[in-house]
Amino acid sequence: MKILVTGGAGYIGSHTCVELLNAGFDVFVLDNLSNSKTESLRRVEIITGKPVTFVQGDVRDRECLKAIFKAHEITAVIHFAGLKAVGESCEQPLNYYDNNVYGSIVLAQEMEKANIKKLVFSSSATVYKESAVQPLTEDMPLGTTNPYGASKLMVEDIFRDLEVADKLNNHSLPWSITLLRYFNPVGAHESGLIGEDPNGVPNNLMPFISQVAIGKLGQLSIFGDDYPTIDGTGVRDYIHVVDLAKGHVKAVQAMLNGLTGVNAINLGSGQGLSVLQLVEAFESENNIAIKRKIVGRRAGDIAEYFGSAKKAKKLINWQTELDVNAMVRDSWYWQSKNPNGYE
Ligand code: NAD
Ligand code: UD1
Repeated sequence: MKILVTGGAGYIGSHTCVELLNAGFDVFVLDNLSNSKTESLRRVEIITGKPVTFVQGDVRDRECLKAIFKAHEITAVIHFAGLKAVGESCEQPLNYYDNNVYGSIVLAQEMEKANIKKLVFSSSATVYKESAVQPLTEDMPLGTTNPYGASKLMVEDIFRDLEVADKLNNHSLPWSITLLRYFNPVGAHESGLIGEDPNGVPNNLMPFISQVAIGKLGQLSIFGDDYPTIDGTGVRDYIHVVDLAKGHVKAVQAMLNGLTGVNAINLGSGQGLSVLQLVEAFESENNIAIKRKIVGRRAGDIAEYFGSAKKAKKLINWQTELDVNAMVRDSWYWQSKNPNGYE
């Protein structure tokens, strides 16, 4: 069974390709390489010993999608392709809506024409409205504060409308769409062959810590220690990227086994970790001191959020298996083996 993976050369996509191949699926990757290199896919082939079919193309390119759907029997699509930097989305909103929203519309239209109606979409925990109640459950109010988050929520809404339309039109083949709301993906494949390869200075915590550890960056700035949390630093729900990748395989399998409709599902661990807890785990697991200082809060940050993992267990039989030690160990192994990423 062949799965089309848009954005499959990227960080989460490449790890998902490994898990799909390990689970016996064939993988077809469509990626425009705007934020990745084909080297990641070459390494997916090394890890799995199986081939990956790759086409360099854009998800907004209808003709490209038509040609793929005509030439290949695609059973389901996992849609990672998109832009993901919050700050950049505020500077270039049109580019974000074009890639993330228009891209998803074109994909769904071409899937519908080809009668392929199983889709997994990369959503984000960023679609939740700030909440005093934790953990976040899938039925909690939604709301966003930047164009990146808005683009994810718009696509979720568009896909929810497809479910309504299916009922109105009494379609014999209804859509089955899983909206996976990721919490904070970190880590890398245990082989050290694939991992996160951010451009420039990382915005996110784990790649920043890894680059301090390898000496590329002088020290970590911890953004605030006066939050109402366990130790005053921000709390997030970190999730190992391999667990995340397996969640996509489970979603595809659940849809093949009859899960229908549009289902939003958190992919998180159900637990929060503070910045200091993550830094200290990195230090003790890898035996490396991370130079750090406390600075002011980062604009737009919130104190704490983590997701309930109950719906994922119930609907797609998924839960995290890898703990924080695996996250920090695998992040460091990838960074130390590939100091300059895929270059
Ligand atoms: P990534 O940038 O590593 O991967 C995205 C891939 O999509 C890249 O290979 C890029 O070249 C490709 N791409 C971008 N626009 C494209 C287009 N128009 N056509 C074809 N290919 C295109 O990012 P990632 O971290 O692997 O994230 C994957 C998805 O998960 C994204 O949709 C992102 O918004 C979402 N997500 C990521 C995180 C995170 O922290 N990494 C959290 C929540 C959600
Ligand atoms: C960010 C994105 C979010 C995305 C998520 C994915 C923003 C505003 N939000 O969230 O949309 O889904 O990444 O991983 O960009 N921290 C430091 N020092 C650093 C970097 C981070 O102290 O150099 C702290 C932050 O204040 C936060 C925690 O580490 O408390 C995690 O930060 P980060 O990795 O950027 O993730 P989020 O802020 O959760």
